[in-house]
Amino acid sequence: MLNVVILAAGQGKRMQSDLPKVLHPVAGRAMLAHVVNTARQLQPRHIVVVVGHGAQQVEAAFSTEPDLTFVTQSPQQGTGHAVQQALPVLNDGANASTTLVLYGDVPLVQPDTLRQLLEAGAAGMAILTETVNNPAGYGRILRDPEGKVVGIVEDKDATAEQRAINEINTGILAASTARLEDWLGRINNHNAQGEYYLTDTVALAVADGVDIGVAQPGGDWETQGVNSRVQQAALERAWQQEQARRLLEQGVTLADPARFDLRGTLTCGRDVFIDVGCVFEGDVTLGDGVHVGPHCVVRNSSLGQGVRIEAFSHLDQAQVGDHARVGPYARLRPGANLGQQAQIGNFVEIKNTTMGDGSKASHLAYLGDAIIGQRVNIGAGTITCNYDGVNKHRTVIGDDVFVGSDTQLVAPVTVGAGATIGAGTTLTSDAPAGQLTLSRAQQTTVAGWTKPKPKPKA
Ligand code: UD1
Ligand code: CA
Repeated sequence: MLNVVILAAGQGKRMQSDLPKVLHPVAGRAMLAHVVNTARQLQPRHIVVVVGHGAQQVEAAFSTEPDLTFVTQSPQQGTGHAVQQALPVLNDGANASTTLVLYGDVPLVQPDTLRQLLEAGAAGMAILTETVNNPAGYGRILRDPEGKVVGIVEDKDATAEQRAINEINTGILAASTARLEDWLGRINNHNAQGEYYLTDTVALAVADGVDIGVAQPGGDWETQGVNSRVQQAALERAWQQEQARRLLEQGVTLADPARFDLRGTLTCGRDVFIDVGCVFEGDVTLGDGVHVGPHCVVRNSSLGQGVRIEAFSHLDQAQVGDHARVGPYARLRPGANLGQQAQIGNFVEIKNTTMGDGSKASHLAYLGDAIIGQRVNIGAGTITCNYDGVNKHRTVIGDDVFVGSDTQLVAPVTVGAGATIGAGTTLTSDAPAGQLTLSRAQQTTVAGWTKPKPKPKA
């Protein structure tokens, strides 16, 4: 049985923000949401979040997530005191559970690292440590001559000799819940900061004969905390680099891994190419051989095999069929559903519209709330007038229709299969299949017309 306690009561003064620190994003998602997501992957029985500063805002941000329990720590008297606030929720009677302590402002620790820590803690307690070049500010790991961990000393309480130790405490710890409760009951605040230190439980465990387990993170970004916008930006870059590295290893070509941003999950087939400056958000799937041109934004979309997205295109909740082409400068909004080999050109906006296989809208069009068949050609400047100011209406266009340029389709309206709509038509009632329909003012030429002459200057 596992419990996870996430400490998130601190103020985060250095962020210089009205938003509580743990709600600031890394890779498009609140830091606390990253930690909660990682905790869930360990399938714990309880996830307890200790909140303090901005407690209401933090709780409100997670109000739809019933598996989280929030406890308030006020005032904040240290990390040991914070964990103590969670204990009443964890109280598990006869169950021998383990408690894992995570931090809302250390967002990127990975489940594999935590699994290793939990394994190392089977004897009663384990700590996650790291060896760093500059240990200033961190708690230092104290070991005896045999190399066994005997305690942690905080930077502010350390002697000059102890400050030279470069194995540091990441803060992340796992311990038997019942024993942790006992050790936390015995710590005091007689230290430089006048706080109840969680780290003081380590020496108490050692005194009780516990062999302290130790684990180390796979990457140093995993345990990087965020206290300022500078650290937030640095962690964001480190994480984007790591995600880019993973994609490269899977066989994706990134024109420049330093100019790639993923805020969510990206699943790629073989031989995918992604040019510079693209942003992927939410859940995105790219089929085999997809080519994404520079500076595209793709959010919660799925692209079939061989799709080409050209520069500066924006896709949101779109489905794109195999070998379709989109852009440059195209916008696919929620519910855009393109068939195989469909073609969407520059300055075309598509919303809640299905386009059949091989259909094209090559330039300057708005297609909303429409069902468009196969092999349809939509001329430049075509607009579905789907909104009457109150309600939205549907446009239905059959297979093999040719819609001339600058046509307005005033919905609800249906164009039968094989119909041709003449350029400049304002279509207000259904157009029959297989025929030419057009609405056009009679063209006239005015006989004897002469150009006005400029007035003589006074
Ligand atoms: C802590 C560790 C230190 C470690 C470092 C890693 C202790 C005593 N020290 O130090 O060994 O090297 O983290 O970054 O644990 N928090 C609360 N309530 C409190 C105090 C803190 O929720 O009363 C939360 C903070 O919001 C923060 C985290 O605990 O997320 C760590 O607190 P912080 O004050 O930053 O700890 P450090 O002094 O950096
Ligand atoms: Ca502190």
